[in-house]
Amino acid sequence: MVSHTFSTKSIGQFEQYMTSNLQKLVAQWDRISDTANSSGQRYADMDCLHWFNYLAFDIIGDLAFGTPFGMLSKGKDIAEVQKSPNGPVTYAPAVEVLNRRGEVSGTIGCLPSLKPFAKYLPDSFFRNGVRAVENLAGIAAARVNARLDAPDEVTSQRKDLLARLVEGRDENGEKLGRQELTAEALTQLIAGSDTTSNTSCALLYWCLKTKGVMNRLQRELDEAIPDEVDVPEYETVKDLPYLHDVISETLRIHSTSSLGLPRVVPPGPGVSILTHHFPAGTVLSVPAYTIHHLPSIWNPSNLPALHPDRFNPDRWRPEHLTEKQKAAFIPFSYGPRACVGRNVAEMELALIVATVNRRYAFELRERGELETREGFLRKPVRCRVGMRRRRRADGAETA
Ligand code: HEM
Repeated sequence: MVSHTFSTKSIGQFEQYMTSNLQKLVAQWDRISDTANSSGQRYADMDCLHWFNYLAFDIIGDLAFGTPFGMLSKGKDIAEVQKSPNGPVTYAPAVEVLNRRGEVSGTIGCLPSLKPFAKYLPDSFFRNGVRAVENLAGIAAARVNARLDAPDEVTSQRKDLLARLVEGRDENGEKLGRQELTAEALTQLIAGSDTTSNTSCALLYWCLKTKGVMNRLQRELDEAIPDEVDVPEYETVKDLPYLHDVISETLRIHSTSSLGLPRVVPPGPGVSILTHHFPAGTVLSVPAYTIHHLPSIWNPSNLPALHPDRFNPDRWRPEHLTEKQKAAFIPFSYGPRACVGRNVAEMELALIVATVNRRYAFELRERGELETREGFLRKPVRCRVGMRRRRRADGAETA
């Protein structure tokens, strides 16, 4: 019922929502850059993670719920919450709520017997976490209710994920109910927001950290995108080789979904993998981060330039890439329950990276490694950069 939502035809119609939110980001960053310039600063100081979060949440809000959360316009982490269809409307920081929820759900997932008591535990980690889970569901409920109660002339214009879900029918020809729609839209919000924003943040960090990468990327983007275009079309950027290689290398080195989600060996004789036997009921997972950093796969000849901890987009050139590497690259997982939103994610990442790096110059203000925290996803804690609008005459700039 859900996978048709992500068909190639549907995805083509999603681009307009990505573009309109990227235009809002560009308007805000132009303003921030101008304000810094007029007060004599060459670069505006910012934590780019915040802005990538506002962007990714507004895009998925637009796609899964019919309107953006308004974080880009407000420049703030804030979304409407409604815990029951006619209940009062309050506001919550959605990015913060999602982070809390990830951490507490990860913990309770390991100790499920805690679940019924979690909200009574004295440790505020659990109390706040359980409240966060409720708030997030409230955000989804508020949005789906608003959309379903909107007049037909409004809803018929929309060509988004929620429209596709509303059209879906089960094997008996039945539509999804309001609660099911809310649950699906919530899944898409959880799966499609900070996955993209954390990846975008890590990408900017690595492009600025690694000598020569930003220059090459900007040169390629400058050649492909006409000067007067603020947000390029996907058609213009989707086959740019260096852009592709930079995105793949980020998905490898950062591995946003790093742990590998669990799978249970089904009833029966169990499974044998290489020399190991796993009986029925064993919980297994394939940790993407580990596989993405194995020297035997990514640097079999032991060359310094190909060290797995080194960000090197050139390893993705078809003439260098081995069959083993192709098989070991699993940022979106593998098999029937792999990321159903992969094509949306690839389009979104290409549009974000092309728009932002063609238009702005950055200066990395993080010393040392990108600090990350494991909270279901591998999340950067922050990424401070200096940002300014590139002048047309700049050409490609050194990071
Ligand atoms: C860089 C961005 C993204 C990454 C790295 C990513 C990664 C993943 C991974 C690894 C899984 C599979 C989990 C498993 O093995 O069970 C997954 C599942 C999923 N993803 Fe993504 N994802 C991204 C973006 C998106 C976007 C933009 C959407 C929606 C618009 C999305 C929707 C989903 C959904 C609904 C599932 C659950 C699929 C199922 O259980 O059948 N993802 N994602």
